[in-house]
Amino acid sequence: MEVVILHDPAAIAAVAADAIEDLVRRKPHAVLGLATGSSPLGVYDELARRHHTGSLSFAGVHGFALDEYVGLPVGHPESYREVIRREFTDRIDIHPDNVHGPDGAADDIPAACAAFEETIREAGGVDLQLLGVGTDGHIGFNEPGSSLASRTRIKSLIDQTRKDNARFFDSIDEVPHHVVTQGLGTIMDARHVVLIATGAQKARAVRDFVEGPVAAICAASVLQMHPHTTVLIDEAAASGL
Ligand code: GLP
Repeated sequence: MEVVILHDPAAIAAVAADAIEDLVRRKPHAVLGLATGSSPLGVYDELARRHHTGSLSFAGVHGFALDEYVGLPVGHPESYREVIRREFTDRIDIHPDNVHGPDGAADDIPAACAAFEETIREAGGVDLQLLGVGTDGHIGFNEPGSSLASRTRIKSLIDQTRKDNARFFDSIDEVPHHVVTQGLGTIMDARHVVLIATGAQKARAVRDFVEGPVAAICAASVLQMHPHTTVLIDEAAASGL
């Protein structure tokens, strides 16, 4: 695991965007793993800017979202499908049919999760997975206690995560209790993982997953076993190291 401490979120976004640009130029049919939350937003802004001002094309790229809420109506503005579309894929030239996500509205969620895993495999696997991290060390929505070998499946959110994510909704009561998320085993299959964390509220999670034991209580710690993970953090998020 390579840990890079940078001055501010703009510097972090530029380094992450460089990694994605290098990949897409080398491999026009690259497969990107896309994350929601606020951490990757600067990267999406930077990639959209490079798309509009330069020759960076995503026309052959496939994108796979990490996770999705269960129980939000299709088209809800805070469903992760809509967030990824609004914040990133509508701003570049990726083909909409090439953007996939776990289906939180399926009648048969286990079957939909298995089909989603199969779609990732058919696309050739994820080349670069962008990640944020929750204050409890979750990645995707793999809350504390998630199996380190887990695949895409339904999970319950802990209270802290619902509180953390309530800022995107009118009230905490609107935050779903259930989600579908790529498993830790699914995320570990990505060839390169780029995790972004900023701010003092992430310092404990960063310390735990970078320096603590590999343990299900801190899901992101599984990345210590990954052969190519880059952790991009600011000084506040690094303050517990
Ligand atoms: C949500 C998402 C995660 C994300 C986390 C942190 O729970 N499911 O993928 O990493 O929030 O969000 P933020 O980047 O806004 O701190």
